Amino acid sequence: MGQTISQRIVDALPFLDDMADRVQPKVQQAVQAGGTSLRNALDGTPMELPLHPALTDVPLGSWSAALIFDGLDVATGSKAMRNAADATLAVGIAGGVAAAVTGFSDWRYLSGGSRRMGMAHALLNSAGLGLAVASLALRATGHRNAGRLAFLAGFSLTGSSAHLGGELSYNHGLRVNRNAFEPRGPESFVTVMGEGELPETGTRQVSAGGVDVLLARATSGEVCAIAATCNHLGGPLSEGVREGDTVVCPWHNSRFDLHTGQPIDGPAIFPQSRYETRVRDGNIEVRAAKENIQEKVR
Ligand code: FES
Repeated sequence: MGQTISQRIVDALPFLDDMADRVQPKVQQAVQAGGTSLRNALDGTPMELPLHPALTDVPLGSWSAALIFDGLDVATGSKAMRNAADATLAVGIAGGVAAAVTGFSDWRYLSGGSRRMGMAHALLNSAGLGLAVASLALRATGHRNAGRLAFLAGFSLTGSSAHLGGELSYNHGLRVNRNAFEPRGPESFVTVMGEGELPETGTRQVSAGGVDVLLARATSGEVCAIAATCNHLGGPLSEGVREGDTVVCPWHNSRFDLHTGQPIDGPAIFPQSRYETRVRDGNIEVRAAKENIQEKVR
């Protein structure tokens, strides 16, 4: 075993990889062409929340309401229920388009089984969205029963797709803060290196209380310390490029403030865990900061 049912089904569909090979570079180019601000907005970095899962609530909620209004319309013949069904269907379509855009943006970094699962998720969602649009058009042209059936078929596909989205998060770890699974780090100050060993520029990785910590001397001279593992997908920040008082992840270019761990550019959305520092007897000492995610999940 070792695989969920969904994974086994998706892995048996090799055309998903062929399709992903063709689509993913185009998505990457399109998002890249939008510039840093658009990229950050699609990733949800300024809002500090993954935008795609938040937006998927709009079609799922609106279409659930449309389903109920359709049922009440059939049962009572109420014009108000009919109008409510059409309105909530339309709101769900608008939310579905926004969710699709942010979903493709999240998918642009994936590879292997996650990319395949994401492609299946996108195909089912696109089909569900297309059927919702067809349903609205059928209703508007007087074919209400056909419209209801198209909507039911589309909503079923969207529901199946939502399950795959859950697999991507809960099983594949997409959009999960990787720092949450690391040791919390030392509660009291521990020595990690001699002060003279830390260069004026660049960064150094050290181990403190079982956690990898990235040390850097800020332009003010202050010694900064944040988690060395990028919380996006686990990239090694010690191999990243230092830009002023920030460091850029070598994997997907998330940029973090070295003082606070805050992401300045995505795709990361969560702050890096941060460590307090002090210099004693010529040595740099660090301890975990109280606000770190590890303090909250255990
Ligand atoms: S691992 Fe993706 S930006 Fe660092």
